[in-house]
Amino acid sequence: MSETHLSTRHLLGIKYINEADIQLIFQTADEFKDVINRPIKKVPSLRDVTIANLFFENSTRTKISFELAEKRLSADVVNFSASSSSVKKGETLLDTVNNVLSMKVDIIVIRHPTPGTPIYLSRRVEANIINAGDGTHEHPTQALLDAYSIRSKYGDVAGKKVVIVGDIKHSRVALSNIFCLQKLGAKVKVCGPPTLIPKHIESLGVGVEYDIDKALAWCDVANVLRIQLERQDVKYIPSLREYALFYGINKERLSKLDKEITIMHPGPINRGIELNSDVADSEHSIILEQVENGVAIRMAVLYLLAGRR
Ligand code: CP
Repeated sequence: MSETHLSTRHLLGIKYINEADIQLIFQTADEFKDVINRPIKKVPSLRDVTIANLFFENSTRTKISFELAEKRLSADVVNFSASSSSVKKGETLLDTVNNVLSMKVDIIVIRHPTPGTPIYLSRRVEANIINAGDGTHEHPTQALLDAYSIRSKYGDVAGKKVVIVGDIKHSRVALSNIFCLQKLGAKVKVCGPPTLIPKHIESLGVGVEYDIDKALAWCDVANVLRIQLERQDVKYIPSLREYALFYGINKERLSKLDKEITIMHPGPINRGIELNSDVADSEHSIILEQVENGVAIRMAVLYLLAGRR
C-alpha cells in the first residue's frame, strides 16, 4: 500500500471512494486503535482543527463516536442539534451551515434525513464534509466500521460471504455495506421479505435470497438490520410478529447450522424482532466490537480528511 492520502477531500459515501482509500483508512484505524487502548487515549494530531457535528436526525452511536474520535484527536468540537436550533425558526440548511463555518469551522460532520444533503453541501461550502447518514442513501462510516470489524475477526474481508438481512429498502447501512464489501472483495447477498428488497438490486452485483435459513447456511457473516418503521410510509410487512417468525434470528435458528457464523448489527436493535437477545448477547455477536471499532475508524477518517484541508 503506497497511498498516503485519500483520493477525496470529503466522505460523502462509499460509492465515491476506492479500495486504496478504504485500506488506508483501515491501516490508520489500526494505529488509532492502539491509541484508544492506552491509559492516555489522546493524541495532538488535530489540535489546530475545529469540527462541527450537525445532527438533524436522532443518533446515539454515531454522534457519540464522532465526538469521542474528535476529542481523542484533540480537535475543538461544537455540537448542533436541529431540535434546539434556529432551524426551528425557518433558517435554511445552507444559511445554518454558512453561519457555523463563519466561526472558523474546518470540518462538518452531518446527519440529515434527506438523501444527498452532504453532496449538496460539498458543492457549496469550503469545509470538508463527512456524511454521518443521509436518509436512505449512505452511512459510510458505519460500512467502514462494519468491514473493519470483519477484517479484525477474520484477518481479511476478501472472499468472505456476507448476508445483509432485513429492511434493505430503507437502509443506508445496506447500500454503504454493499459498496464497501464489494470493493474489498467480499461476496454479498441480501435477504428479507420481497417487499423490503429493492427491485433491481441484483444490478449492484449482489445475490438475493428470500429464505433466511438458506441465507444463514451460505454466509460467514450475517449483518442484521433494524426494521425501520419510521421510514415506512406504507405497510411493507403484515406485522412485526410475522417478521420475527420468518426472519428473526434466534439461537434455535443458528443451532441448525453446521458451522459458526458471526452476527453483526449496526444498532439500535429491536430485540425480539430482527434479533433475539440469545444471539445479540452471545459469543456469535460482535455488535459491541463494531461500536468500539467505530471510534478508531472515525479517528482515521477525520485525521486523513484534515490532511486534505
Ligand atoms: N448505527 C447508527 O447509525 O446508530 P445511531 O443512529 O445511534 O447513530
